[in-house]
Amino acid sequence: MDSLFHVIEAQQFSRDIMDEIFGVTREMENVVSRYGSNILNRRIMATLFYEPSTRTRLSFEAAMYRLGGEVITTESAREFSSAAKGETLEDTIRIVEGYADVIVLRHYESGSARRAAEVSRVPILNAGDGPGQHPTQALLDVYTIQKEIGRLDGIHVALVGDLANGRTARSLAYLLTKYEGVKLYFVAPEMVRMRDDIKAYLTEHGVAFEEEDDLMSVMSKVDVVYQTRIQRERFGDRIQDYERARGKYIIDVETMSTLSENAIVMHPLPRVDEIDPAVDTDPRAAYFRQAHNGVFIRMALLQMVLEA
Ligand code: CP
Repeated sequence: MDSLFHVIEAQQFSRDIMDEIFGVTREMENVVSRYGSNILNRRIMATLFYEPSTRTRLSFEAAMYRLGGEVITTESAREFSSAAKGETLEDTIRIVEGYADVIVLRHYESGSARRAAEVSRVPILNAGDGPGQHPTQALLDVYTIQKEIGRLDGIHVALVGDLANGRTARSLAYLLTKYEGVKLYFVAPEMVRMRDDIKAYLTEHGVAFEEEDDLMSVMSKVDVVYQTRIQRERFGDRIQDYERARGKYIIDVETMSTLSENAIVMHPLPRVDEIDPAVDTDPRAAYFRQAHNGVFIRMALLQMVLEA
């Protein structure tokens, strides 16, 4: 089995390595219930975040602390790191690799994690690169589907919302190509439909997909509804487009009535208004459980890249 080093994009994972990651992740659930471990004692993780985050940064940091490691961090790095003085990403990485054993990077440009990996001697973990990808989120999403539904082969998933800009939905679509008999439904407002690169990749890998307008009819056909936020920050001055996209597909108690009893609703979060809070108490609302799985997945990734 190839060892894991940089984590840049969902396509890099084979089904075997995902099985291995999920096996370690299950062990990490036990580690957390025993109040942690010291396997990464004195190892240092740097979190470099050029875009806002709650879940990804704090779950990576919690993961490192749970394993006995240390954390150095810069959030709002556009403002509070030397990027504000004009330092390039590559130079920043060349410096931080001398301070840390692993670098977790969130950046506003698609392809930035790959650029960082090209100059880094320590593992780069892509924590979201603009509208590009968010592979550690996709891993926790697939882990959540396995845990909640009990299988991945034959799974039917509706990806809903901002599919053009949604890096989590893009990475999840890539990752689901590793499983047999998967069917994807894309439900997105006209101006943020799933991009052609993903559709071409799915076709090349024999994964069935349909583009649908009617969320209610799709809800009754799937095991997983993966709702996403319309990303205001990617629309620039196209405010009218944003307003038209927002509010088109809302999951509320009425839409939930068409979802099967054993299906689940997921969301990478944060949400704005695309899932009514009245849905939160429905046992099929899996999005907070999904976010908590992020700590276990990230503990597994940190152990695997640092022990490679
Ligand atoms: N899901 C996710 O990436 O959330 P944050 O932006 O809060 O990290």
